[in-house]
Amino acid sequence: MLHEDSRGGFRRYKIRRRMTKEAIATKDQSAATATNTKALQDSTFMRACRREPVPYTPIWLMRQAGRYMQEYREVRARTTFLELCKRPELATEVTVYAAERLGVDAAIIFADILLIVEPMGIELEFAKGEGPQLHNPIRTSADVDRLREVESVDSLDFVMEAIRQTRRALKPNLPLIGFAGAPFTLASYIIEGGSSKNYIHTKQLMYMDAGAWHEMMSRIARSLSRYLNAQIAAGAQAVQLFDSWVGCLSLHDYREYVLPHTRNVIENITQGTPVLHFGTGTAAMLEAMKEAGGDVIGLDWRVDLSDAWQRLGDVAVMGNLDPIALFTDAKFLRDEAKRILDEAANRPGHIFNLGHGILPETPVDNVIALVNAVHELSRR
Ligand code: CP3
Repeated sequence: MLHEDSRGGFRRYKIRRRMTKEAIATKDQSAATATNTKALQDSTFMRACRREPVPYTPIWLMRQAGRYMQEYREVRARTTFLELCKRPELATEVTVYAAERLGVDAAIIFADILLIVEPMGIELEFAKGEGPQLHNPIRTSADVDRLREVESVDSLDFVMEAIRQTRRALKPNLPLIGFAGAPFTLASYIIEGGSSKNYIHTKQLMYMDAGAWHEMMSRIARSLSRYLNAQIAAGAQAVQLFDSWVGCLSLHDYREYVLPHTRNVIENITQGTPVLHFGTGTAAMLEAMKEAGGDVIGLDWRVDLSDAWQRLGDVAVMGNLDPIALFTDAKFLRDEAKRILDEAANRPGHIFNLGHGILPETPVDNVIALVNAVHELSRR
């Protein structure tokens, strides 16, 4: 059984979808036009990306559509995670539902950073309770030779179709964020074959065969620009690069082995589309991340937002509540929201978010309480 809210949400979505049926034929062209509507470009989220003043601080949450939500678990019970990503009507349903239920200021398309490894020739599986498994990881320069660059994004069209459908289903003033993994974080999965604690194989290849490393990172980076630009053409207003695990590197290694490739991705993104550049454990490399690019730099909870922003200078910032704070109560969350908003001090260009994604055990009511507190406390 679906929650009543959710049914209402789905019904609204279906009506909007019917109204724009003719638009389906023109596909990306109509979506691209929708991208540039005044309502979207004037939204608090897009204004904050451009560091313009806003009536209140926009908030969205990484992993806002996920297992912590009963309605997600119900959709997910009927299918595998990969199947859910590959069926645009289901991806649309969970994306739109989460955004509307929470009352956040942006939606993020339901997908995964690992989807792109399949067209690169890597076998991907999400085994129950195991996290991602990549069955033929890249370990040697010979392996790198077989890693295919994504020349055409046709095989990932289900993501673009989900974006087209979601754009049509969302409220006309709610921006949609597209995303991809950043080159380092993707490389770490492709090399380790899954999640990792110490990144031994990744660093081994990086240190022992810099030629193979840079070749691999270049192939990944070119693939990523094409993929993100296709998401933008399909109707995403902004794109986020998740460099979730880059904090395992020294500043020196980030500059030497990663920065040029991330910069390549960002430099080749369609002009005028804000790029959010996110990582965790990045306190030592924030300035270097900014050099790599992005209109908005994501901050985790280990840094003071005001210190980090001062170091970064003329760029927008996103963050930076500890996701574990969502395991407390509305009173604590309100105090934390206030503390972070005070650090931002109404300077234009703050987007409220967690320092990393929502965890599966998080109580939904606390997430809603946080969204409401941020809106209320930040109203200018
Ligand atoms: O934010 C959103 O709501 C959009 C959806 C989204 C997912 N993954 C859905 C998902 C986004 C933006 C991602 C990004 C992603 N995927 C990252 C970067 C963000 C981060 O958390 O650092 C990473 C590292 C991945 C890779 C990945 N996907 C892992 C490690 C896992 C397993 C996690 C786990 O706890 O099992 C996934 C699976 C995944 N991606 C789930 C969801 C909702 C859970 C799958 C399920 O329903 O069983």
